[in-house]
Amino acid sequence: MSTYTVNGVTFALMQGDIVRVEVDAIVNAANAALAGGGGVDGAIHSAGGPTIMEECRKIGGCPTGSAVATHAGRLNAQYVFHAVGPIYQQHGDEEQLLASAYQSCLDLAERYQIKSIAFPSLSTGAYRYPVTLAAPIALRTIVRHLQQPTSLQQVLFVLFDARTLDTYKRAMQQIHDD
Ligand code: APR
Repeated sequence: MSTYTVNGVTFALMQGDIVRVEVDAIVNAANAALAGGGGVDGAIHSAGGPTIMEECRKIGGCPTGSAVATHAGRLNAQYVFHAVGPIYQQHGDEEQLLASAYQSCLDLAERYQIKSIAFPSLSTGAYRYPVTLAAPIALRTIVRHLQQPTSLQQVLFVLFDARTLDTYKRAMQQIHDD
């Protein structure tokens, strides 16, 4: 685990399974149909139980670059924020869409006044966004947000494998050095 402090907010990069962390909101790497799938999405729906999908069906969908909130079923969280990142090389403005998927989760965090949130690495699995390109976009969006007043006290990035964690650590170092 690598821990930083950004404007008084604890910001940690860790390796692990996002369904096992205890936070107010867990971010899901969803698709625009909110239809479920593999990766983070599969893990969240299987650990959280069927009530999350029931709420997703009622919501009906979520545009790429945005996020919607449901309750968190059996997960150790109050909410799941279902964020839809871009599929790599399919949208044109994918940097902006990736940043806005993260920003939408931060906006939901402020709306629900939550204190802690856990993010996965959006778009870098099934959606094939290279981690080296996605990590600085993700981290800059969050660091910039934390520079304003926020309800958040703790932000976690839960990265599945050591290589992804390492890439995020390097990107964070680069942001620090800038
Ligand atoms: N906890 C943390 N990270 C995880 C977990 C987990 N349990 N499972 C997978 N990951 C990692 C992957 O290794 C990858 O680095 O999360 C990152 C994002 O991968 P995906 O879950 O495939 O998300 P994404 O690339 O945004 O693709 C979304 O995949 O499963 C479908 O329904 C989903 O269609 C949507 C698409």
